[in-house]
Amino acid sequence: MRNAVRLGVLLALAAAILLPQEQAPAGKGPEQPVPYSHKFHLSMGLKCAECHTSPPPGEMMGIPSVAKCMTCHQAVAKDKPTIQKIAAAAKEKKELAWVRVYQIPSYVAFSHKAHLDAGATCQRCHGEVAKRDVLFKEGDISMGGCMSCHREHKASNDCGFCHEQR
Ligand code: HEC
Ligand code: HEC
Ligand code: HEC
Ligand code: HEC
Ligand code: HEC
Repeated sequence: MRNAVRLGVLLALAAAILLPQEQAPAGKGPEQPVPYSHKFHLSMGLKCAECHTSPPPGEMMGIPSVAKCMTCHQAVAKDKPTIQKIAAAAKEKKELAWVRVYQIPSYVAFSHKAHLDAGATCQRCHGEVAKRDVLFKEGDISMGGCMSCHREHKASNDCGFCHEQR
């Protein structure tokens, strides 16, 4: 009897390991002004840094301007309604109202540059961006998430390290 239970557990474990796990986690991202797909655009060989840079002091990564999109879409798929929306914004020198996916409260200090310099990858905090048509908050940027990585890398977990002392 015990053995049968154990076998059952083993089979369930084996199935969990062997079955294809390609399905994306069931996260739901916000609806964006146009359905920009990271998966599709990165499959053409674009690099993160072509669209996301962190100008000094390096806190923000920033979202690319529509002018960046127009370097291709001036010509590519210009009769599609989604692209016409981008072109119209560019013409009026406006930006699209992208809905933020990752955001922490202003009372938390965070610097992209400090973390990239320390060797952290985009994936570590933002998940499998290159496999996603729609981004959702799959990376853990909660206080617990920050602290467990700090513990792992022997970075400080003093309250004042991430929260300004006042
Ligand atoms: C150590 C974790 C971490 C790493 C590594 C990281 N990010 Fe972030 N990212 C965050 C957090 C936290 C926010 C929210 C920041 C805020 O609200 O001020 C964020 C926000 C963003 C934003 C929204 C704009 C902004 O700057 O607030 C973009 C775009 C972004 N990250 C892209 C990237 C890219 C590209 C990389 C790799 C080059 C990367 N991130 C690496 C944690 C990380
Ligand atoms: C390196 C060139 C390139 C850049 C830069 C680029 N795109 Fe694209 N994009 C493409 C190509 C190629 C397609 C596929 C066109 C097709 O299916 O006919 C595409 C397709 C799209 C589509 C789907 C169009 C539709 O309705 O079928 C959207 C939306 C889109 N891009 C948005 C953007 C946005 C927003 C940016 C800027 C952040 C951007 N693209 C930057 C090349 C680019
Ligand atoms: C062609 C331009 C382009 C490239 C290349 C690109 N991105 Fe983005 N990224 C965008 C646009 C446009 C948005 C806003 C729409 C959205 O959230 O999907 C965005 C949003 C994001 C966000 C969410 C920011 C927030 O908090 O709202 C993250 C994280 C991010 N990108 C990471 C990456 C990473 C990592 C790579 C490389 C693997 C990458 N991006 C490559 C254009 C790009
Ligand atoms: C990938 C692991 C990792 C994650 C996730 C992470 N950190 Fe860090 N963080 C580090 C390391 C390592 C350092 C030390 C870098 C150094 O020594 O300069 C650091 C340094 C910092 C610093 C000091 C930066 C500076 O300017 O010197 C702050 C503030 C910080 N982290 C806040 C956060 C917050 C807030 C989060 C969650 C949103 C977070 N970290 C998530 C690894 C991480
Ligand atoms: C490594 C960075 C980091 C450290 C260290 C840290 N925090 Fe935080 N803290 C955060 C982040 C990120 C948030 C925002 C979480 C969110 O919005 O999901 C936060 C949020 C909070 C909040 C608001 C919680 C809520 O639910 O509204 C309090 C209170 C707080 N922290 C207290 C502390 C105290 C006390 C310490 C020291 C024991 C501490 N924090 C250390 C990153 C940190």
